[in-house]
Amino acid sequence: MDYSQMGLFIGIALTVGAVVLHFTRGTPWRASEDISKEVLEHRAKSVPETDFPEPMNRSIGGGGAVAAVGGAEGGAELEGGEAAEAEPGPGDIPEDEIEYYEVEFVKEGETIEVANNKPLLDQGEDQGWDLPYACREGSCVSCAGKVSGDANELVEHDNQQMLDENEMSDGYVLTCVAYPRGEFSIETNEAP
Ligand code: FES
Repeated sequence: MDYSQMGLFIGIALTVGAVVLHFTRGTPWRASEDISKEVLEHRAKSVPETDFPEPMNRSIGGGGAVAAVGGAEGGAELEGGEAAEAEPGPGDIPEDEIEYYEVEFVKEGETIEVANNKPLLDQGEDQGWDLPYACREGSCVSCAGKVSGDANELVEHDNQQMLDENEMSDGYVLTCVAYPRGEFSIETNEAP
């Protein structure tokens, strides 16, 4: 066999080999087993339960389940219509039960009649006075003032979060959420 025959033979052999390889089916692809459920179940056992609803379902039977239960309960309550109603606040006084008190605003130099269904700050502003305030929801002390007596008795706060019992006993009030419950004088812009 000369070189040209040998070359031809090798060429044919390679071609046949390539064609055979091309048509031979390899090992078929199989998806690996889905173990995600198993992993989640294992994780559910190792992650402690939370008793608050989580934004993401961290584990099977975890926060997501609690949130779902809470949501169902919440829905039931809402359907009942009672839980959806807000608690009446100190300003929720029916028209025919509104009372008025004489309150002296010492620094403003005037005594005015204030209603018991409106915060002192609002009623002072109704007079055109530029009284201090910031949050208007009882969570800073910008609007603080001092009344002439025990503020626990003279005003009713609507959810104030800044003054303790002693400070209120000393007469300090947060005028933005303080509803008058008696006659007194008040010094505005006085913080404990
Ligand atoms: S303005 Fe913040 S507590 Fe009254």
